[in-house]
Amino acid sequence: MPTRQPTHNLREITNHKCIKECNTEKRKETTNNDICKVTKSEFDKLPVRCVGNWAYQKIYRLNQYFGIFSNGMKNKWLGLNYIELCSGPGRCILRKTGEEIDGTSLSILRHPSFNFIKKAIFIDNDETIIKILNKRIKHLSINNAYSIKGNYNDINTLKDIFSDLNKDFLNLFFIDPTDCSVPFDTIKFIKEYFTNVDFIMNFPYGTDLIRNLPGAILNVTWPSRVKYLKFLGSKDFFERKEVKNLAVSPNKQQLVLEFFIEYIKNLKLIGLEYCESEQVKNYYMLLFASGNSKGLEFWKKSQNISPNDQREIIFS
Ligand SMILES: C[S@@+](CC[C@H](N)C(=O)[O-])C[C@H]1O[C@@H](n2cnc3c(N)ncnc32)[C@H](O)[C@@H]1O
Repeated sequence: MPTRQPTHNLREITNHKCIKECNTEKRKETTNNDICKVTKSEFDKLPVRCVGNWAYQKIYRLNQYFGIFSNGMKNKWLGLNYIELCSGPGRCILRKTGEEIDGTSLSILRHPSFNFIKKAIFIDNDETIIKILNKRIKHLSINNAYSIKGNYNDINTLKDIFSDLNKDFLNLFFIDPTDCSVPFDTIKFIKEYFTNVDFIMNFPYGTDLIRNLPGAILNVTWPSRVKYLKFLGSKDFFERKEVKNLAVSPNKQQLVLEFFIEYIKNLKLIGLEYCESEQVKNYYMLLFASGNSKGLEFWKKSQNISPNDQREIIFS
């Protein structure tokens, strides 16, 4: 078992104005792109993102890897970069409890090992969110990180953003969309552009995918069909007899599993041979993908300790 090291908290506080328990319907009124319209952070008075309680597990697992990765790689490379695609505003509120915590971006910026990072870029396609995160970065007085507008469907803009990063460094990418809509071509582009790149990706199967995948396979006019095909990167997957059979069976989990296995197969084909995933509730998989066996070794080590109720992030 890894030994406990100094802990780093997510600056949890209670947000007294959070309504708590806003359901999907209510959130249409109380949020805009998941940013709460009812309350702001009690910590820094800036807007917060409304999230499910399971978000904590994602932040925890990302931080665990980040600590081991940055410590383990800092002397092996000319430098390390951290890039987050779909960064959010930096601070979240757990809708069930009204507890406010640092989101992925702020948790990484405040991580004790962030010192080992040469540059960090946080990308989101929402102008308001970028401004909020940039204010939070300014509050931390960090000058090697910034938030910038970018869209995962627009490779040319991403290329411009990446031109600020040294290609000879090792790059850690965290990709955190709300649904399976990041095109596979974008992942392929990032892998080819940087060469030395490790990914942690959120594979959010529990939002719309599990509901819509059978329809998307069986009906060529299904609204999300093109989105899933672009995401997966296999043109013929929906045409396969065994996949069509699964789409009519009541076992949706099995169909989603096949989709996930196909996705990993495609990652391996573009040189991300070392893949492993951790399930976060029934909502998503955190998928680690690297072209380097060392990355996978670090991932396994970092995921040894599961998120615990004490809300501690343990660094080694
Ligand atoms: C799940 S949230 C990110 C949460 C954040 N990583 C955290 O845990 O604190 C997804 C983010 O993706 C952004 N987004 C949605 N579509 C996007 C796109 N096409 N390109 C880039 N960002 C996008 C949204 O604005 C939203 O902030």
